[in-house]
Amino acid sequence: MALLHAISSSSFFLLLLHFSPAFSFSLREKLVTYDVSDFGAIAGGQTDASKAFMSAWAAACAAPGFVAIRVPPGVFLVGEAMFSGPCRSTRITFQIAGTLVAPADYGVLGESWIQFYEVEGVSIVGGTLDGRGASLWACKRAGDRNCPQGAVALRFTNSREVTITGRLTLLNSEQFHIVIYGCEAVTLEDVTISAPANSPNTDGIHIEHSAGVTITGATIGTGDDCVSIGPGSTDLWIERISCGPGHGVSIGSLGKEYYYEAGVKNVTVTTAEFVGTLNGLRIKTWARPSRGFVRQVAFEHAAMWNVKNPIIIDQNYCPDEPNCPRQSSGVKISDVRYSDIHGSSATVVAVRFDCSSSNRCSGIRLEEIKLTYGNEPAISFCNHAAGFNSGVVQPRSCLSS
Ligand SMILES: *[C@@H]1O[C@H](CO)[C@@H](O)[C@H](O)[C@H]1NC(C)=O
Repeated sequence: MALLHAISSSSFFLLLLHFSPAFSFSLREKLVTYDVSDFGAIAGGQTDASKAFMSAWAAACAAPGFVAIRVPPGVFLVGEAMFSGPCRSTRITFQIAGTLVAPADYGVLGESWIQFYEVEGVSIVGGTLDGRGASLWACKRAGDRNCPQGAVALRFTNSREVTITGRLTLLNSEQFHIVIYGCEAVTLEDVTISAPANSPNTDGIHIEHSAGVTITGATIGTGDDCVSIGPGSTDLWIERISCGPGHGVSIGSLGKEYYYEAGVKNVTVTTAEFVGTLNGLRIKTWARPSRGFVRQVAFEHAAMWNVKNPIIIDQNYCPDEPNCPRQSSGVKISDVRYSDIHGSSATVVAVRFDCSSSNRCSGIRLEEIKLTYGNEPAISFCNHAAGFNSGVVQPRSCLSS
């Protein structure tokens, strides 16, 4: 019945199209496309195209149905851009053939360079975003305390059903490259992120207060975390990622500011490669009271090459803070599985579980672990860590039962 109904209504639609040239035009084109050039954007990287981008967004957002915004080949200078919803259109696709460059001087942008705010059904397909963060990094590296924090290159806030495909490349962000905050159902496919190893705070992808985020096929080399997972992150799937240089994948830091902090739950990192990173798979919490938690985590099929801390839980994190020494972390870590993790550690301690003295780690599982210290055997370190092992576990496990 339903099928019959669908067929008859679509043939009615076709009939209608036949007599309606405007309609058939838009259907043949598949979707209505707004080209930023038609709104005044000029390639060459010298003329500020922000207004053109905002006008194209306004038009696309106000249109019904599926629409696209097209950025043609060429280099476009774009300042701080906020694409906000809600929109009338149900799906907006940004087709980026060219490169967007941020202003080269630091201090011009605020917290974000390109931000999507309260949108639903937005996709980005292709393109390069160059944050040109070098002048800010130089300021920070010079130890000048007046340097601004810097802008996140691409931020999604309070949004749903966001997709990034088509090999989007992000380069040299002033600060984090991608932030996903307060979002649901986000898919990032084949993203490449690159910044120098000595660029401060240039995390690849940061996820916080978001559910259902999938990252597949990412290649990330920066000066900070490859992927960082903040409070309130649930149902994450991270598959086929390559990290390095940088600090590796990190759940946390957690428990820094708020006692009633949302926990992290159901995170899978599978098929990952770490080359020369500071950490491989890390969970990090501040040594402060907290009601937070980390549970139901799977780290599997990871290759480590010359990684300083391939497997690490650090619950005693408290860098130069006056009010946390001798406190312990309230963040409860449980049900964390490490399976098929192999390769080489750059330090002798390849597996470190330094858990909270007031709140030990429980349900840690090690299966098929083969980590060496160069060509020599590595060791494990355990502090308040309980769990079990199966299969080959090298270095030998120190978990208590
Ligand atoms: C865990 O997250 C995945 C998505 O990564 C989801 O498919 C699955 O249903 C979640 N499992 C539970 C028990 O919530």
